[in-house]
Amino acid sequence: MVKVDLSGALGFLNSAGPDYSLAAEAHRTLADGSGPGSEFTGWLTLPQLIKDTELKSIVAAAERIRKNSEALVVIGIGGSYLGARAAIELLASPERAGSPDVYFSGCGLSPDALNETIAAIGDRDFSVNVISKSGTTLEPALSFRVFKGLLEQKYGAAGARKRIYATTDAHRGALKSLADAEGCECFVVPDDVGGRYSVLSAVGLLPMAVAGIDVRRVIDAAIKEMQELDLRSPENPAWQYAAVRQALYRGGRGIEILGCYEPRFRFMGEWWKQLYGESEGKNGVGVFPASVELTADLHSMGQYIQDGPRTMMETIVSFDEDLTKFEVPFAMGDPDGLNYLAGRGFGEVCRIARDAVKAAHISGGVPNIGVSVPRRDEEGFAALVCFFEMACAISGYISGVNPFDQPGVEAYKKNMFKMLGKPGAE
Ligand code: PA5
Repeated sequence: MVKVDLSGALGFLNSAGPDYSLAAEAHRTLADGSGPGSEFTGWLTLPQLIKDTELKSIVAAAERIRKNSEALVVIGIGGSYLGARAAIELLASPERAGSPDVYFSGCGLSPDALNETIAAIGDRDFSVNVISKSGTTLEPALSFRVFKGLLEQKYGAAGARKRIYATTDAHRGALKSLADAEGCECFVVPDDVGGRYSVLSAVGLLPMAVAGIDVRRVIDAAIKEMQELDLRSPENPAWQYAAVRQALYRGGRGIEILGCYEPRFRFMGEWWKQLYGESEGKNGVGVFPASVELTADLHSMGQYIQDGPRTMMETIVSFDEDLTKFEVPFAMGDPDGLNYLAGRGFGEVCRIARDAVKAAHISGGVPNIGVSVPRRDEEGFAALVCFFEMACAISGYISGVNPFDQPGVEAYKKNMFKMLGKPGAE
């Protein structure tokens, strides 16, 4: 379902074009489990596993929350929140307006952000979905302490525990022990799925279902997409994307900008940045992932992209169909000189702008990769997630890293815990 357009990139490679044998080898390594981090490749079969196991209880819990809560606080950081936030922002639409408001907390340490979330909930009924695979990450753990306390004040200990949903490791960790001791409903982050590859588990699906997204459709589409992405051929869009971005990287393109002309894509960009940054940036190598919102950022970053150092490539995600239409109105007397556009759709104007920007950037020396899906809906979201995950793993193996670990994240934690005086961290 995902289509990759390499027409704006191939001219930047040597005449031999991309070397698909590297993608073939990386795909083989991924599929036969012979590469580093192979114990974290459960995401390949996650959609089918979820359909066979937890999906029903996720939907049932979401229905309960939708009935008894006007707000849901989703507590998590990194891979434990970005996917859900990306999906909810991408797919939110007027038909979902009756759903509880979803707030994200625990993805930072700002007292202002915490107070703002508490104030926004006010005296409305709310529930909490705390998400942490390790169960020990400081930011969400602190936020959970706060919101658990607020739930207990409002509903008493027994009432609070019926409003807490914990998504964590099946057996280990402080959150699992706490949730079991309190008798809260638990969902699982599978052992073989790392945080940034977990959006199609309860990690992403429970908040999405509360927000009114049809998660059954998401999962059915993801099962199909994963099958299609197993294709062992240069026709596989994940091979195309992975092979070409790696070839461009080797040719000196150390920065990749992900852009989209749909403002609701912004948090998909954040999710993609974590997926690629944390998977590939190690051992002194890796493309630096950046993102822009178009056309807005043409008026802030456009100058740099067009004229700055020629170290970038760009990947532009698009949706073939607009969900709604809007025509440029006719204005009597043409006071602003825009009547040459009257009667034409904003969608058409946007597509022409996109083509014009692509041509300008290519002539300015920026390779352009196009990634498209038919619609901004459940199927489109699932396809993009599966495609970017598969391409990320293949791209990581091509570059010779373990795309499933994140050893570098520990360095700041060690310092922080020491400076905060955590017992045992001296
Ligand atoms: O991708 C990852 O593994 C990380 O980004 C984690 O998701 C993030 O650090 C949060 O970890 P946890 O879910 O253990 O709280």
